[in-house]
Amino acid sequence: MICLIKSMWRVQLHKIDYDEKEYQAVKEVLDSGWLTISEKTRAFEAAFSQFLGRDTKSLAVSSGTAALHMALLACGIGRDDEVITPALTFIADQNVSMMCGAKNVLADITSMEDWSADPSDISARITPKTKAVMIVHYAGFACDMERITSLCKKHGLLLIEDCAHTPGAVYRNADGGEQPLGTFGDMAAFSFFANKNIAAGEGGMVVTRNEQLFEKLRLLRSHGMSVMSFDRYKGRALSYDVEFPGLNYRINEISSALGLVQLKKLQNANEKRKNLVEHYYSRLDNLSSVSIPYRNFSRGKPNYHIMPILLSESTDRTAVIESMKQDGVQTSIHYPMIQNFSAYKDKINSTPKAEYVSAHELTLPLFPTMTKEEVDIVCSALAKAIEH
Ligand SMILES: Cc1ncc(COP(=O)(O)O)c(C=O)c1O
Repeated sequence: MICLIKSMWRVQLHKIDYDEKEYQAVKEVLDSGWLTISEKTRAFEAAFSQFLGRDTKSLAVSSGTAALHMALLACGIGRDDEVITPALTFIADQNVSMMCGAKNVLADITSMEDWSADPSDISARITPKTKAVMIVHYAGFACDMERITSLCKKHGLLLIEDCAHTPGAVYRNADGGEQPLGTFGDMAAFSFFANKNIAAGEGGMVVTRNEQLFEKLRLLRSHGMSVMSFDRYKGRALSYDVEFPGLNYRINEISSALGLVQLKKLQNANEKRKNLVEHYYSRLDNLSSVSIPYRNFSRGKPNYHIMPILLSESTDRTAVIESMKQDGVQTSIHYPMIQNFSAYKDKINSTPKAEYVSAHELTLPLFPTMTKEEVDIVCSALAKAIEH
């Protein structure tokens, strides 16, 4: 791939994995003369439903955030409702609840080894006002779906899976069978942002098995309109009705074309991530001051979306980040503490375990085209930074 933006890093956090196939797919869209939702999007949605199986219906949208927002809107979440959201996640989960007028109640993570929302903490935070539970499968590691689904069923709560990290990851059910993440909840939201396992620049997918919810989602995506521009172009409709107020959360044909190619590459790309993560483990397992979450994970097969580590309490994370930067290694934090953001300060409950992780987590580079030599560079830079 030609990369015209010169990287300032020896090893950057993430790189897109594109080749001739993505170029060709985009060229086909441009040559077609039609950029807004039409055949590529329909093909992407059909391929995504087939990939997830279990009678899912998929609707491609402009982002993962749009997918989450639409999921809450379709469920009728509004003022006076409470939504239980994960404490260690991207802020989109809280923002969309707030944008619906609902109150966020954070569920803490399970332990320093298992950063998924703790089912016991979710249970303890249910009140008569709770309407929905949103979970995130952090880094592509499945939450405890058996306990969470039965909790939601028992209390009559809607379950929304934030699947931004999960394409290709599966949960192991009690009977030993595997079930793709995104097929447990009433709805699931996927992201195709540039750093995701399926990267389309921007884009998302909202998925459900419920026909009525799907129909609502379809209308919400495009102003509540009964027909789309492409139907009018094809002469299938002259005008349209607006069945209820909606938004413009449409994806475009270029992103759908990229998503289709990336979906075909997903299994192979996830396999490469797995090999790299195993190499990381072999280098980091004996490094003092570092522990790795989900190291003995047994709830299914992850897709290794990111490579998070936890630094010891006495390690100065800012100094480590700076030292690694000096060595040309880019790092990140997944995720900063929600309670520290101006918009949420003093407005949201505390979650001590997630707060601890937010203060000590460091994300190392990981992407399918990364080499083992690059993993070695990262690990050496990390070891040097910690020693200092
Ligand atoms: C966990 C999580 N949720 C939601 C989102 C939002 O997705 P998008 O950037 O496509 O809106 C992201 C994206 O970074 C994410 O990582």
